[in-house]
Amino acid sequence: MSSLLITGATLADGTHADLAVVDGLFVDPAEAPQGATRIDADGLLALPGLVDSHTHLREPGREDAETIASGTLAAARGGYTCVHAMANTDPVTDTAEAAEFVADLGRRQGHCEVRPVGAITKGLAGEELAELGLMAKSSAGVRVFSDDGRCVSDPLLMRRALTYVLPFDGVIAQHNQDARLAGPGACAHESELSGRLGLGGWPAVAESIIVARDVQLAELCKSRLHVCHVSTAESVEVIRWAKKRGIRVTAEATPHHLLLDTSLLEHYDTTFKVNPPLRTNEHIEAVREALADGTIDMVGTDHAPHAPQDKDHPFDVALPGMLGLEQALGVVMDVMINTGRMDWATLVQRMSVAPAAYGRVASQGRPIAVGEPANLVLVDPSARGVVDRAQGASIAKNNPYHGRNLPDPVIATVWAGRVTYQRGT
Ligand code: NCD
Ligand code: ZN
Repeated sequence: MSSLLITGATLADGTHADLAVVDGLFVDPAEAPQGATRIDADGLLALPGLVDSHTHLREPGREDAETIASGTLAAARGGYTCVHAMANTDPVTDTAEAAEFVADLGRRQGHCEVRPVGAITKGLAGEELAELGLMAKSSAGVRVFSDDGRCVSDPLLMRRALTYVLPFDGVIAQHNQDARLAGPGACAHESELSGRLGLGGWPAVAESIIVARDVQLAELCKSRLHVCHVSTAESVEVIRWAKKRGIRVTAEATPHHLLLDTSLLEHYDTTFKVNPPLRTNEHIEAVREALADGTIDMVGTDHAPHAPQDKDHPFDVALPGMLGLEQALGVVMDVMINTGRMDWATLVQRMSVAPAAYGRVASQGRPIAVGEPANLVLVDPSARGVVDRAQGASIAKNNPYHGRNLPDPVIATVWAGRVTYQRGT
């Protein structure tokens, strides 16, 4: 097993430390072997490896857009040591075998830990529960269940799912969009702009209506609910209310909903088509504030690679979704840290500790300390650069940050003691 000696790093609490890694664990630097690979971390921050609550890897089924290998390489380059791989693959991850297939591919080809998410309903059809218990009991040990990409609209099915996962400490993650409130061509935030562009609108309340329903179902079932990609001020208010009542709800915000707004749709560039849609400033501000105060627990990238043949269409026809893993930390830094809204210790909570706890991933989101698993990211807080989608590790190139000047902070990523990414090598 490899060994590492990382010298002169600064931790999230501002203290300085040398870090040594042997056999996948942090050890006392005095115990680092002579031949250990050295990394000079003078001026760099060492943070626990990032954990993504929401990643679409597209394997099996759409390996022309992303594979487990390419998507986890993008993750490593973004500072991630673990991702939750969403179930909307082809075939859908709705059986124990399908979950084991994804977990196994992750172990063999992944550049980070891959935690399969199981579907809530068979084939994501929203009609019948999938094999939730068998997926939980399988060697994949599934804890997160989601039909993400589709909203579980039947409240009785949602109640049953929440009840079913309770004994094995599972969590139901909902994609909150009530499709019955929008026409079939809905593809933009409903606003004066969507009207002018002639694009079908998603009203903001199509999201918060589902959130309000589901937090009450979670209370009824005493079960765990997770609100995917929160994008509206009303959803934030509902989650704030639910948490005050002691309802077991967690929530995530995406980097794109923290930074990008609906005016980007002006030129019909389908890179900016995503579900839920990019919103207006009042919603963006509410999401930022909620991430700062903890109403929103974590950042989830909703990394959603799409091949050109699925994006090069009229706006209402193109598939929704955008890349996120490689720029997530840079975006959160620019929006939250560089504006003084958040400190580094809080960022570690939102991007590592909380998402690891959400998925019950024992080896992740741990402190950088002797005896702990060696998962870390080395960050240069002052590095910036212009994003070039051609340079990304993802097979798909639907990068919404292309051409933007953003923090470019990830210098190296270490997963289970192995260097999975190092800048310039
Ligand atoms: C996601 C996808 O492409 O799988 N698309 C999206 O617009 N966010 C599904 C999802 O996360 O809802
Ligand atoms: Zn979704």
